[in-house]
Amino acid sequence: MSATVGQARAEAAARLAAAGVPTPEVDAELLVAHALGLTRPQVRLHRAEALPEPAAQRLAALLARRAAREPLQRLVGETGFRRLTLTVADDVLVPRPETEVLAEHAIAATPPGGIVVDVGTGSGAVALAVADEARPGLVLATDASAAAVAAARANARRCGLWVDVRHGDLLTPVPDGLRRRVAVLVSNPPYLTEAERRAAETEVTRGDPAEALVAGPTGHEVTDRLLAAARDWLAPQGHLLLEVAQPRAEAVAARAEAIGLRAVRLHADLAGRARVVAARQPPRAHPAAGDAA
Ligand SMILES: C[S@@+](CC[C@H](N)C(=O)[O-])C[C@H]1O[C@@H](n2cnc3c(N)ncnc32)[C@H](O)[C@@H]1O
Repeated sequence: MSATVGQARAEAAARLAAAGVPTPEVDAELLVAHALGLTRPQVRLHRAEALPEPAAQRLAALLARRAAREPLQRLVGETGFRRLTLTVADDVLVPRPETEVLAEHAIAATPPGGIVVDVGTGSGAVALAVADEARPGLVLATDASAAAVAAARANARRCGLWVDVRHGDLLTPVPDGLRRRVAVLVSNPPYLTEAERRAAETEVTRGDPAEALVAGPTGHEVTDRLLAAARDWLAPQGHLLLEVAQPRAEAVAARAEAIGLRAVRLHADLAGRARVVAARQPPRAHPAAGDAA
């Protein structure tokens, strides 16, 4: 006699626990749901019914991959980010829960009708959260990876939100007419060294492209280039918000101050670690941009 949905869920959880998966119950329920094409509440509702053979086979394949510690989000093909469900694409970083903190600061900083630019948008997570939860006039997102640009556009369609996603290096794809008009410049750029990436390699990072994580030998390379460009794009009193590696948070804050940004602050992630550097353009325009002082 074939197993019921409930039995299959319990067996899956035991198997994942034996494999050392940290959240076996939740993962098992999500994989049973995915194998059946149901939601988690529906799995509980149908727990006394027999698990159809095709679903049992799909579940067996999914469990083997999860037990081998493939990220759950890559197995089910989607992940939650704030209020949104985003498709997880090959060669694109899976958005992390800690980046929801960066998005929260970007949402809070966005004035109604303001221009928001998300540099290195990946799946589009931060840009889409701003479009979803704030009232921006325009959200523009850039990424150097063609796979990320395609993923962000697909996620915008999926979420029914409008974000102008452009392919290219940092702020290069942003139209010149937006110089000194950006109210919020937000980015979760690559900020690790190769050694840090290897040390941090866990199942969470499996499948993430190295270019999304590694900045260069110091970890500061991409952040430094972004800081160098930021003052030409930010409106007076515009906000710069950067996710950073905790060990370099103070150094990035000092670099932001050194280029003349004001109100430089560090914000903590959900685990209490300083992970977001926030800074503001001074009220008067950047003298190098040609405005009267
Ligand atoms: C850490 S991931 C962040 C992705 C997404 N914002 C998120 O938080 O989930 C960094 C992203 O920056 C992109 N990237 C790396 N170098 C870049 C550059 N020079 N210009 C634009 N994007 C870049 C990568 O392709 C990747 O999508």
